[in-house]
Amino acid sequence: MASGSCSDAPVAVRVRADGYSISVCTDEAVQDRALAADVSAGLRSIPKDLPPKWFYDDEGSRLFGAITRLPEYYPTRREHEILQRAAPEIATLSGAGTLVELGSGFSHKTRLLLDAMAAAGTLEGFVPFDVNQTALRATAAAAVEAYPDVAVHGVVGDFGADLRSIPGGDRRLVALLGGTIGNFPGPERRKFLAEIASLSSAGETFLLGADLVKDRSRLLAAYDDDAGVTAAFNRNVLGVINRRLDADFEPRRFTHVVTYDEETQRIEMWLRSDGAQEVYVRRLDLRVSFDDGEAMRTEISAKFRPTQIGDELEAAGFSVLAQWLDAAGDFSLTLARRGDGPPP
Ligand code: SAH
Ligand code: AVI
Repeated sequence: MASGSCSDAPVAVRVRADGYSISVCTDEAVQDRALAADVSAGLRSIPKDLPPKWFYDDEGSRLFGAITRLPEYYPTRREHEILQRAAPEIATLSGAGTLVELGSGFSHKTRLLLDAMAAAGTLEGFVPFDVNQTALRATAAAAVEAYPDVAVHGVVGDFGADLRSIPGGDRRLVALLGGTIGNFPGPERRKFLAEIASLSSAGETFLLGADLVKDRSRLLAAYDDDAGVTAAFNRNVLGVINRRLDADFEPRRFTHVVTYDEETQRIEMWLRSDGAQEVYVRRLDLRVSFDDGEAMRTEISAKFRPTQIGDELEAAGFSVLAQWLDAAGDFSLTLARRGDGPPP
């Protein structure tokens, strides 16, 4: 199959691969520069703060996969349950020929959507988009194997810079699953939703998976599991910085801390310094002190009320078509259409 292009990106690496095409918008060098900028700003800010996208090197992607199988981490199972029930209706309502999946990871649940589109006779293309190239390639290869007649084009890119490199397609359905929308702070979330709307043509659709507000003890347990997998996932970001920026963080000297604030409806993950310590980031020639007990924020994960999701989608330029919850009311999927267009 033809190799892909990475339009509008300053660095585009074109890679041929068997059965699928791929655009690499953020290669290692681009990512290293972005990580350097984020670490330089984040370690100087008060409180210290790192964006969550740096969790997802190969080890972090593997650990996230392990999180999705934990008894405490309900979102993946709940979203899977909804998709089992609603995927045929989503395929019909969207009428989509191409599925674009943002933050696709290993796309396990996505098979339910692809199967439903195939059963509806509309499936022509699949475009997984993720910052992690290993996961993206595994997803693209699995899709080619399962759907040999479907055009699979992967994009290795960053939500913040590379959405415009998503190719056009035959009536696209863009999906953002897993509750990843909650990992954006409010203003960035609104901007991101508006960007997704602006890259969609009239009549194209958007499927959003969002975790819902619930009892705080269940929320806290989901992000602080007994087996310590989420703690390892959280500390892994320090290993990423050590490796890529030649830093000397000692991950075992940081404790995984999770908070939930009912007012902002958000889980936050932090790494708290055990003892006062100094860290040197050689590639930035940056020396940073941590006080004993000082915490650095590594992720926010906002939770939503069902009506709020509809309101935010409408504000971004979508019209809500349908919303589904799982039987326990833990998680939501909302399908919306880009406005100003005829129904499919
Ligand atoms: N959609 C999957 C995976 C969710 S984990 C699911 O529902 O289980 C979040 C995914 O988003 C990871 O695969 C990660 O690599 C990707 N990701 C995180 N930040 C990103 C960014 N800024 N740009 C592109 N992908 C990103
Ligand atoms: C990817 N994202 C939706 C996950 C979440 O639940 O916010 C990441 C995660 N962090 C800790 N556990 C899972």
